[in-house]
Amino acid sequence: MIQSDYMAQAIAAARLGAGLTYRNPLVGAVIVKNDRVLAVGHHVGFGHAHAEVDAYQHVTHPEDVIGSTMYVTLEPCSHYGKTPPCAHQLVRWGVKEVYVAQQDPNPLVGGKGIAYLREHGVQIHVGLMETVARQLNRAYNFYYEYQRPLVTVKVAQSLDGKLSLNDGKRTYLTDMVANADVDHLRATQQAILIGSQTAIDDDPRLLVKERVAYPPVRVLLDRRNRVSHTSRLWQTNEAPLWHFVTGKESTKGIEDKDTRRTFKTSEWSIDKVIQTLSDQGVQSVLVEGGAHIQDAFLRVGLVDQLIIYQVPEIFGGRSLASFASRADSMRMRFTPVTIEKCGNATKMAFIRPSLAADWGLD
Ligand SMILES: NC(=O)c1ccc[n+]([C@@H]2O[C@H](COP(=O)([O-])OP(=O)(O)OC[C@H]3O[C@@H](n4cnc5c(N)ncnc54)[C@H](OP(=O)(O)O)[C@@H]3O)[C@@H](O)[C@H]2O)c1
Repeated sequence: MIQSDYMAQAIAAARLGAGLTYRNPLVGAVIVKNDRVLAVGHHVGFGHAHAEVDAYQHVTHPEDVIGSTMYVTLEPCSHYGKTPPCAHQLVRWGVKEVYVAQQDPNPLVGGKGIAYLREHGVQIHVGLMETVARQLNRAYNFYYEYQRPLVTVKVAQSLDGKLSLNDGKRTYLTDMVANADVDHLRATQQAILIGSQTAIDDDPRLLVKERVAYPPVRVLLDRRNRVSHTSRLWQTNEAPLWHFVTGKESTKGIEDKDTRRTFKTSEWSIDKVIQTLSDQGVQSVLVEGGAHIQDAFLRVGLVDQLIIYQVPEIFGGRSLASFASRADSMRMRFTPVTIEKCGNATKMAFIRPSLAADWGLD
């Protein structure tokens, strides 16, 4: 096998941690000696073994690791967190050579793991299959490289670009198959955000049906504090609810009850909301609307990914259009990524053009 085959194996192993690593990245590792794979490992979950340690634990004879080569999708860590630093362990185990696909953008590591290995005589090569490995952790990379969460706006709309019939009732657009797809999309996010009017009109719970180790935080933008405490959002506590209201500054959040927190400031601009989520360590946000909230995100240039579920119906007339608001018209260009049939909808994904190269899509 050639080096990229071993790294491809490490990348495949990393994916086994999907949904379990929370704010930690997906990472895979393969230990090879004399062209034979000794063990494969992955980061098994937040607070649990890192990929390098998981691989080591799968080796039949630990002494075989002396003089081996390790292929790892992300730079081995160099700091004491929930587990001891992997870079130190690799040296202790006698690993001779390390191929790293991607340097860790987290400033806690940020090249220090690579430097430690080099200083301790380990031959180190950085960048093997980097573009592929980076796709494992788009939100994690984005968060550390842009110092804010990756924002995805999700829209369900009619053929004429309408969100709802505007008849005062919730308009159901997508069928069970498309809803399951949306549920999976939610499961991959660390926060789901809606505006107060959607909370009032639709009374959603914003919970994820799929089993997830860490359900996304539900973020409610409700400056005027209009959403009733009898709403389903308020009455469910299976996932945290963060309530953004206008008031005397407390952007660190006041613990309300169990999973509820209230964030207050005199003016909640979208930038400030995102900054606050960022300060709380949130790496990804799914904006689910409605129209005014979608438009507000677009206006401040905070739509990184746009996912549209378009159903084959026309609503016409005064129905509420997606991204509608009372502000002036504007144009913003996106790069198309995928288009597929999804239940009764056509699912279309777009990204901000500047992300295309990084996501290997140019
Ligand atoms: N088809 C879909 O994908 C979809 C998704 C979601 C919703 N919807 C539909 O959309 C409708 C609601 O949409 P909507 O446009 O009327 O309301 P919305 O966007 O859900 O909520 C608007 C409210 O959000 C609050 N808000 C907080 N910060 C804001 C900011 N920076 N900029 C703008 N608003 C901010 C404002 O109330 P405060 O001033 O009180 O904070 C504002 O009135 C519902 O009928 C719902 O069914 C459809």
